[in-house]
Amino acid sequence: MNIYNDILQILLNEEDIKRITADIASKISEKYYDGRLLLVCILNGSFMFFSDIVRRITVPCTIDFIRVSSYGESTVSSESLNFMSDISTDAANKNVVLVDDILDTGLTMYKLRQYFLSEKNAASVSVCTLLDKPARRVYDIKPDYAGSEIPDEFVVGYGLDYNDGYRNLPYIGVLKSEIYKKDV
Ligand code: PRP
Repeated sequence: MNIYNDILQILLNEEDIKRITADIASKISEKYYDGRLLLVCILNGSFMFFSDIVRRITVPCTIDFIRVSSYGESTVSSESLNFMSDISTDAANKNVVLVDDILDTGLTMYKLRQYFLSEKNAASVSVCTLLDKPARRVYDIKPDYAGSEIPDEFVVGYGLDYNDGYRNLPYIGVLKSEIYKKDV
Protein backbone atom coordinates (compact mmCIF):
# COMPACT_ATOMS: atom_id res chain seq x y z
CA MET A 1 0.00 0.00 0.00
CA ASN A 2 1.24 3.45 -0.90
CA ILE A 3 -0.66 6.54 0.20
CA TYR A 4 0.66 8.52 -2.78
CA ASN A 5 -1.58 6.40 -5.03
CA ASP A 6 -4.67 7.84 -3.29
CA ILE A 7 -3.95 11.40 -4.42
CA LEU A 8 -5.80 12.73 -7.45
CA GLN A 9 -3.90 15.98 -7.86
CA ILE A 10 -1.29 18.07 -6.05
CA LEU A 11 -2.60 21.52 -5.09
CA LEU A 12 0.49 22.89 -3.32
CA ASN A 13 3.86 21.24 -3.79
CA GLU A 14 6.88 21.52 -1.49
CA GLU A 15 8.26 24.54 -3.36
CA ASP A 16 4.89 26.33 -3.14
CA ILE A 17 4.79 25.65 0.59
CA LYS A 18 8.35 26.92 1.09
CA ARG A 19 7.52 30.17 -0.70
CA ILE A 20 4.25 30.64 1.22
CA THR A 21 5.73 29.96 4.66
CA ALA A 22 8.69 32.28 4.02
CA ASP A 23 6.34 35.05 2.91
CA ILE A 24 3.99 34.71 5.89
CA ALA A 25 6.87 34.46 8.40
CA SER A 26 8.40 37.60 6.98
CA LYS A 27 5.10 39.51 7.26
CA ILE A 28 4.63 38.38 10.87
CA SER A 29 8.25 39.30 11.72
CA GLU A 30 7.77 42.79 10.26
CA LYS A 31 4.63 43.42 12.28
CA TYR A 32 5.53 42.01 15.70
CA TYR A 33 9.01 43.25 16.57
CA ASP A 34 8.36 44.20 20.21
CA GLY A 35 8.98 40.84 21.87
CA ARG A 36 5.37 40.10 22.81
CA LEU A 37 4.65 37.67 19.99
CA LEU A 38 3.09 34.32 20.94
CA LEU A 39 2.58 31.83 18.12
CA VAL A 40 -0.01 29.17 18.90
CA CYS A 41 -0.10 25.90 16.97
CA ILE A 42 -3.60 24.46 16.64
CA LEU A 43 -3.09 20.71 16.82
CA ASN A 44 -3.14 18.35 15.18
CA GLY A 45 -3.45 19.59 11.62
CA SER A 46 -1.03 22.54 11.74
CA PHE A 47 2.05 20.78 13.12
CA MET A 48 4.04 20.91 9.86
CA PHE A 49 2.88 24.37 8.80
CA PHE A 50 3.61 25.72 12.28
CA SER A 51 7.16 24.38 12.34
CA ASP A 52 7.87 25.83 8.89
CA ILE A 53 6.50 29.25 9.92
CA VAL A 54 8.24 29.33 13.30
CA ARG A 55 11.68 28.44 11.95
CA ARG A 56 11.50 31.46 9.62
CA ILE A 57 10.40 34.03 12.22
CA THR A 58 13.26 36.44 12.84
CA VAL A 59 11.95 38.40 15.86
CA PRO A 60 11.75 37.25 19.51
CA CYS A 61 8.73 35.04 20.09
CA THR A 62 7.35 32.30 22.27
CA ILE A 63 5.41 29.29 21.06
CA ASP A 64 2.65 27.15 22.51
CA PHE A 65 0.20 24.47 21.48
CA ILE A 66 -3.54 24.00 21.81
CA ARG A 67 -5.41 20.87 20.84
CA VAL A 68 -8.96 21.21 19.60
CA SER A 69 -11.16 19.28 17.26
CA SER A 70 -14.19 20.34 15.29
CA TYR A 71 -14.82 17.31 13.13
CA GLY A 72 -14.66 14.05 15.07
CA GLU A 73 -14.44 11.28 12.51
CA SER A 74 -16.98 12.60 10.07
CA THR A 75 -16.45 15.09 7.28
CA VAL A 76 -19.34 17.26 8.49
CA SER A 77 -18.38 20.04 10.87
CA SER A 78 -20.03 19.87 14.28
CA GLU A 79 -21.25 23.04 15.95
CA SER A 80 -19.01 23.14 18.97
CA LEU A 81 -15.31 23.01 19.51
CA ASN A 82 -13.85 20.19 21.52
CA PHE A 83 -11.02 21.43 23.80
CA MET A 84 -8.58 18.59 24.40
CA SER A 85 -5.60 20.50 25.76
CA ASP A 86 -4.91 24.15 26.41
CA ILE A 87 -1.74 26.24 26.09
CA SER A 88 0.54 26.09 29.12
CA THR A 89 2.03 29.60 29.05
CA ASP A 90 0.48 32.99 29.83
CA ALA A 91 -1.13 34.72 26.85
CA ALA A 92 -2.10 37.90 28.75
CA ASN A 93 -0.96 41.07 26.96
CA LYS A 94 0.65 39.04 24.19
CA ASN A 95 0.13 39.49 20.47
CA VAL A 96 -1.21 36.05 19.71
CA VAL A 97 -1.02 34.56 16.22
CA LEU A 98 -3.21 31.47 15.87
CA VAL A 99 -1.71 29.13 13.27
CA ASP A 100 -3.88 26.53 11.59
CA ASP A 101 -3.71 24.43 8.46
CA ILE A 102 -7.15 25.28 7.04
CA LEU A 103 -9.93 27.79 7.51
CA ASP A 104 -13.08 25.95 6.57
CA THR A 105 -16.40 26.88 8.23
CA GLY A 106 -14.38 29.20 10.48
CA LEU A 107 -15.70 27.63 13.70
CA THR A 108 -12.26 26.78 15.11
CA MET A 109 -10.71 30.19 14.53
CA TYR A 110 -13.84 32.13 15.48
CA LYS A 111 -14.14 30.39 18.85
CA LEU A 112 -10.41 30.43 19.57
CA ARG A 113 -10.11 34.12 18.78
CA GLN A 114 -12.96 34.86 21.23
CA TYR A 115 -11.34 32.59 23.82
CA PHE A 116 -7.92 34.25 23.62
CA LEU A 117 -9.40 37.76 23.78
CA SER A 118 -11.97 37.26 26.54
CA GLU A 119 -10.51 34.50 28.70
CA LYS A 120 -6.76 34.71 28.09
CA ASN A 121 -6.65 38.53 27.90
CA ALA A 122 -4.45 38.58 24.82
CA ALA A 123 -3.50 42.07 23.59
CA SER A 124 -4.38 41.07 20.05
CA VAL A 125 -5.28 37.92 18.15
CA SER A 126 -4.43 37.31 14.49
CA VAL A 127 -5.44 34.41 12.34
CA CYS A 128 -2.89 32.62 10.14
CA THR A 129 -3.86 29.74 7.89
CA LEU A 130 -2.15 27.86 5.10
CA LEU A 131 -5.38 27.11 3.24
CA ASP A 132 -8.53 29.19 2.99
CA LYS A 133 -11.77 27.66 1.72
CA PRO A 134 -14.09 30.71 1.56
CA ALA A 135 -16.84 28.70 -0.16
CA ARG A 136 -17.39 26.77 3.08
CA ARG A 137 -17.45 29.72 5.49
CA VAL A 138 -20.23 29.83 8.08
CA TYR A 139 -18.62 31.99 10.80
CA ASP A 140 -17.69 35.64 10.26
CA ILE A 141 -13.93 35.44 10.16
CA LYS A 142 -11.22 36.34 7.66
CA PRO A 143 -7.57 35.33 7.89
CA ASP A 144 -4.94 37.98 8.59
CA TYR A 145 -2.36 35.75 6.91
CA ALA A 146 -3.38 33.12 4.34
CA GLY A 147 -1.25 30.95 2.10
CA SER A 148 -3.69 29.98 -0.62
CA GLU A 149 -7.40 30.06 -1.37
CA ILE A 150 -8.55 26.63 -2.50
CA PRO A 151 -11.75 25.23 -4.03
CA ASP A 152 -14.10 23.02 -2.04
CA GLU A 153 -12.15 19.79 -2.57
CA PHE A 154 -11.21 17.12 -0.03
CA VAL A 155 -7.58 17.96 0.66
CA VAL A 156 -5.02 16.00 2.68
CA GLY A 157 -1.32 16.01 3.44
CA TYR A 158 1.18 18.35 5.13
CA GLY A 159 -0.72 17.84 8.40
CA LEU A 160 -4.27 17.55 7.02
CA ASP A 161 -5.94 14.20 7.45
CA TYR A 162 -8.61 11.84 6.32
CA ASN A 163 -9.53 9.54 9.20
CA ASP A 164 -6.21 10.53 10.81
CA GLY A 165 -4.20 9.27 7.84
CA TYR A 166 -2.28 11.11 5.09
CA ARG A 167 -0.89 13.75 7.49
CA ASN A 168 2.65 12.67 6.59
CA LEU A 169 2.45 13.59 2.89
CA PRO A 170 4.91 16.44 2.18
CA TYR A 171 2.42 18.34 0.00
CA ILE A 172 -1.25 19.33 -0.14
CA GLY A 173 -3.19 17.00 -2.42
CA VAL A 174 -6.76 16.28 -3.41
CA LEU A 175 -7.89 12.88 -2.14
CA LYS A 176 -9.45 10.57 -4.74
CA SER A 177 -13.20 10.51 -4.10
CA GLU A 178 -13.37 6.71 -4.15
CA ILE A 179 -11.28 6.69 -0.95
CA TYR A 180 -13.77 8.63 1.19
CA LYS A 181 -16.93 7.52 -0.64
CA LYS A 182 -16.26 3.89 0.17
CA ASP A 183 -16.41 4.78 3.89
CA VAL A 184 -19.78 6.58 3.74
C1 PRP B 1 -9.49 20.84 11.12
C2 PRP B 1 -8.40 21.82 10.76
C3 PRP B 1 -8.85 23.09 11.43
C4 PRP B 1 -10.35 22.98 11.42
C5 PRP B 1 -10.91 23.86 10.35
O1 PRP B 1 -9.19 20.32 12.38
O2 PRP B 1 -7.14 21.39 11.24
O3 PRP B 1 -8.39 23.18 12.76
O4 PRP B 1 -10.68 21.61 11.14
O5 PRP B 1 -12.31 23.71 10.25
P1 PRP B 1 -13.32 24.84 10.67
O6 PRP B 1 -12.90 26.11 10.02
O7 PRP B 1 -14.64 24.33 10.10
O8 PRP B 1 -13.35 24.91 12.15
P2 PRP B 1 -9.88 19.03 12.97
O9 PRP B 1 -10.96 19.46 13.90
O10 PRP B 1 -10.24 18.09 11.87
O11 PRP B 1 -8.72 18.40 13.86
P3 PRP B 1 -7.23 18.06 13.46
O12 PRP B 1 -6.50 19.37 13.36
O13 PRP B 1 -6.73 17.23 14.58
O14 PRP B 1 -7.24 17.33 12.13
